[in-house]
Amino acid sequence: MTEKFKIHGGESLKGEVSIGGAKNSVLKLLAAAILVKGSTKIYNVPHLTDVDIMLNVLSDLGAVCNYNKEEKSVVIDASDITSITAKYELVSKMRASFIILGALMSRCREAIVALPGGCAIGERRVDFHIKGLEALGAKIKIENGYVHAKASKLVGTDIYLDIPSVGATENLMLASVLAEGSTRIQNAAQEPEIIDLANFLNTMGADIQGAGTSEIVINGVKADCLHETEYTTIPDRIEAGTFMAAVVATKGKAIIKNVYPAHLTFFNDKLIKMGASIKLVEPTTIEVSARSRLSSINFVTQPYPGFPTDLQAIAMTLLTTSNGVGIITESLYENRFMQVPDLRRMGADIHQDRNHAIVKGVKNLTGATVAASDLRAGAALVIAGLMANGETIVEKLHHIDRGYEEFEHKLQNMGAKITRYNEEDISGMPSMNSAILNTKGGI
Ligand code: EPU
Repeated sequence: MTEKFKIHGGESLKGEVSIGGAKNSVLKLLAAAILVKGSTKIYNVPHLTDVDIMLNVLSDLGAVCNYNKEEKSVVIDASDITSITAKYELVSKMRASFIILGALMSRCREAIVALPGGCAIGERRVDFHIKGLEALGAKIKIENGYVHAKASKLVGTDIYLDIPSVGATENLMLASVLAEGSTRIQNAAQEPEIIDLANFLNTMGADIQGAGTSEIVINGVKADCLHETEYTTIPDRIEAGTFMAAVVATKGKAIIKNVYPAHLTFFNDKLIKMGASIKLVEPTTIEVSARSRLSSINFVTQPYPGFPTDLQAIAMTLLTTSNGVGIITESLYENRFMQVPDLRRMGADIHQDRNHAIVKGVKNLTGATVAASDLRAGAALVIAGLMANGETIVEKLHHIDRGYEEFEHKLQNMGAKITRYNEEDISGMPSMNSAILNTKGGI
């Protein structure tokens, strides 16, 4: 069943929206839950296909997972881990499941995890994860597409990351929790999701210092120091940034709740330079608005606290109709301009040269049929559809469902004319439920 969005552009978004738990945090918290021989409860877990995949990975290892949709919580009972293998069938569906490698090494001292391939946005290697585990004492073989890691014991050491990789920092943090002695990760990623993982591990009895800075120290603890815990995931800063952009793109005015503005400083600053207004209403509530045509800006994507690569495609959409010329440099991924051909089909004037894009603002976008190539490019095309004159059809919604919970419902509540429909449904009426509800098993 192929689902699509039909969007009638031109409506200014208003009202309010509440942001869910951070996808890129919750996936790691779920993996971390297997460190405890018992039950862990995590709140603020969004209902996403990626979450479903991670729960399937954990269930495959023997953990018992129960997702409560009303409460948006999940209980993971990892009393019995009966397998050390994360299968290709699951890892290939979601690269983030590679995080189970570090968690299994902590819990079982052995792991067999399928190597994730490249993906639409870039090569996305895992060499830092592997080198870091070897430095901790693991013997690693890569055979038949699987990483087989084994260690009689893991011993803390100094690890320097060539790039502040989010996934490598998290995998190595997880692997070091029960190591002998202290591990120091230098040039560590500083994303809020790293702090969230460290806070979660510390609430279960780990000893991690410095998360959120470029040097993280993990003082190994004994397995019996870890205990059952409850934890609430931080809000999703990329979802928040997406809704902020959607409001600004449509010259709207809306309240965005459950957002940590400090996690979006760089992005907020750029939106304000473009002409948007962002007011703090309460510590976790902001009011976003824009009245007139935005002005173009230049930006370079950088690891946190720089401009987030995950908001690059979305910001590019804003530039397509801004006054002037904006230059974007994508410095994290080799191939993250997948939205460009579709934006051009909607009338955008974009010149791309390797990792640079020059966006010359046009007066209007016009509706067209476009397809999501990845999660964030998909969200960018939805925003382009909300801005465009006429009707836009966005295809390949499974990418969007990986990371945006009830995306169209949240947008509808803000006045957007967007409906989800099945290809077979020629009337274009919305389908009963989102793709998530059609997935079998899991949440
Ligand atoms: N890299 C290597 N070797 C490694 C690890 C990374 O060369 O061993 C390179 C990658 O190829 C990439 C760069 O380092 O060019 C940064 O990759 P990083 O490891 O930081 O990214 P990640 O952990 O794979 C997470 C998010 C991404 C987000 C990036 C950067 C999750 C599940 N994913 O990926 O989110 O773009 O950090 O902030 O946390 C998304 O949500 O749409 C998404 C892609």
